[in-house]
Amino acid sequence: MSFSIERYKQESKKLDTTGIDWQAVTDRPLSKGDLFCLHYMMDIENHVPLYLSHLLVTRACMDPILTAFLACWNYEELWHGENLGKFLNLYGIEFDTQDRIANVRANLGFQNSVSILSTMLGSWLLKDFSAVYLTIGAINELSTLTGYSALIRKSGHPVLKDLLGRIIKDERRHFAFYINSAKEWLTDNEKAQRVDRWMLDHFWVPVGQGVKTQEQVDALALYLFDDEQGEEDLLAIDEKIGRLPGLAGIKLMSRALYAARERRRQDPQWAWRLIDNEEWAVAPPKRSPIGELTTRRAHAGDAAVGAFEGA
Ligand SMILES: [Fe+2]
Ligand SMILES: [Fe+2]
Repeated sequence: MSFSIERYKQESKKLDTTGIDWQAVTDRPLSKGDLFCLHYMMDIENHVPLYLSHLLVTRACMDPILTAFLACWNYEELWHGENLGKFLNLYGIEFDTQDRIANVRANLGFQNSVSILSTMLGSWLLKDFSAVYLTIGAINELSTLTGYSALIRKSGHPVLKDLLGRIIKDERRHFAFYINSAKEWLTDNEKAQRVDRWMLDHFWVPVGQGVKTQEQVDALALYLFDDEQGEEDLLAIDEKIGRLPGLAGIKLMSRALYAARERRRQDPQWAWRLIDNEEWAVAPPKRSPIGELTTRRAHAGDAAVGAFEGA
């Protein structure tokens, strides 16, 4: 799988949704599991700018190829989140996208700042930090597109299939960038290989974990991948990542699925209760209401805005 940053810069664009039959979104029902996954996926797509803020404080960003990629990548991911939100709204689930995003971010609270600082520190202590970040990027993109394929299969919804099929094409390009860059960094670099493997074995978590709880991550994994095809898909991800220098035989995605199964075995209600109870709304944070976090300072600001408009 080849990748040219020059070509990517030229061709990067907002997701083309021309011809998607939005009118037909309500023609076919979605299961609670489908809806749970769509909310999860939308939230994680919308979380990309915050994830980016973590990367921009690391030594990885000394590389202009990487920052060029991130500039385009961030824009493309924005439209993934936007369109998943549009799909859910058209399906009849009401929420304000901006409020939801602000709530997700505010709920991260102090943990977000700690995470930025520790990523920054880790990157300056580890000369081969980029190897770890690039490998994680590859896993995240590949598991995201594998998740979208699984949701197409589970839902059998034609409009969703069309939309996700288009998003998958973007994710494939993202994966190509990361896997090629990781391979370049790791080739003939035994120290980087050792660091990468150790970090993945000890600190790797599935895409979305941290923004989502362990139980939410498990609910997604068990809904999408807890069957023969799903398990095969996850083993295929591990196999592809295992082809990187120094990562032969690594088990990440399949290990996460087996761990989720084990948690459900110990508690049969685990994960599925979130789906059954339709727990996909995001509660506003207890402190810092949205008005304090966004430019839409709701009620208190109305008078001020009015005065400004009249000026
Ligand atoms: Fe995406
Ligand atoms: Fe992506």
